Amino acid sequence: MRLLREPGAVLGLALVALVQLGPEAQAVEPISVGLALAGAAASALTGLISYPRLYCYFAECCLQRPGARAGAALEEHLDKKLFGQHLVKRVLVKAVTGFLNNANPKKPLTLSLHGWTGTGKNFVSKIVAESIYEGGLNSKYVHQFVSTLHFPHRQNITQYKDQLQSWIRGNVTACARSIFIFDEMDKMHAGLIDSIKPFLDYYEELDGVSYRKAIFIFLSNAGAEKITEVTLDFWRRGKRREDLELRDLEVALSVSVFNNKNSGFWHSSLIDRNLIDYFVPFLPLEYKHVKMCIRVELESRGYVVDEEIVARVADEMTYFPKVERIYSDKGCKTVYTKLDFYYDL
Ligand SMILES: *[C@@H]1O[C@H](CO)[C@@H](O)[C@H](O)[C@H]1NC(C)=O
Ligand SMILES: *[C@@H]1O[C@H](CO)[C@@H](O)[C@H](O)[C@H]1NC(C)=O
Repeated sequence: MRLLREPGAVLGLALVALVQLGPEAQAVEPISVGLALAGAAASALTGLISYPRLYCYFAECCLQRPGARAGAALEEHLDKKLFGQHLVKRVLVKAVTGFLNNANPKKPLTLSLHGWTGTGKNFVSKIVAESIYEGGLNSKYVHQFVSTLHFPHRQNITQYKDQLQSWIRGNVTACARSIFIFDEMDKMHAGLIDSIKPFLDYYEELDGVSYRKAIFIFLSNAGAEKITEVTLDFWRRGKRREDLELRDLEVALSVSVFNNKNSGFWHSSLIDRNLIDYFVPFLPLEYKHVKMCIRVELESRGYVVDEEIVARVADEMTYFPKVERIYSDKGCKTVYTKLDFYYDL
């Protein structure tokens, strides 16, 4: 479908179809039927091409999928591929679907994803992008920034600020439903965070551009200790992990992120000014979740799931706290390379 990016290409294809229709039509009644067919088909086509859904079928469009479909896709993917994160599923599906269904949001959707590496933050932001745009992270409407990669030098902060602001402005002008993902927020310079603040606020527009339909996703390790502490405490009290509620974590999380001097958030007023709509906590993963990740990965590589290897790879991971050894230190992050060891023979 790559070639069919432009409406012109679609029309071209239709004309080819018409030429092919020609002879048959002419067999019935040479000129008039042919002309009538051509006329009807051409007008139907013009109608179809201006019809956004069909056009978007051929070329990537700004907001390819309507809210309900994006929400359903998101839910399905999270159900299939994300393990041990009941809160993430619940919050995200509701937040994203509700936001996309709202034709006139008051502010952009801002999600702050928190948790240790390997718990699925990057994975989930990828799934969110894919549920809205088929191309996912490669879509021209999805923009990902990694602090240490894109904005590494402290002395060039002024330059980064201008660049980032002009990128956000340019991309939202082109597509109001653009998605911006900021990874390693805790390593992002405070000044840079400040520079994106205006875009997240309740402004009708800024210099003629409205940012209210955009989605901003922030990823960080900030608050991960607190999340672990609450989860572990819950476990020690003999409660079911799935009964952990967002409110058990939300307050603790916003306070700990806010008070953590190492996290970029501390310097900025993102939280102070309630610019973040949802805190999304990623819980530390248990042995059984690690096994689930391994099984899905084996399936996606086309192997029959061998439980012996699943257990062996899961056993190779390290677990904390020292005594109970409940949670995987690296979540599911390194299981993929460990699997290579068993299968790359
Ligand atoms: C910082 O910006 C200056 C001027 O724009 C440029 O010459 C320099 O190479 C940049 N430094 C780094 C480390 O990117
Ligand atoms: C959109 O963002 C990308 C970075 O993801 C940037 O390279 C590009 O120049 C931006 N487009 C506009 C029109 O500003």
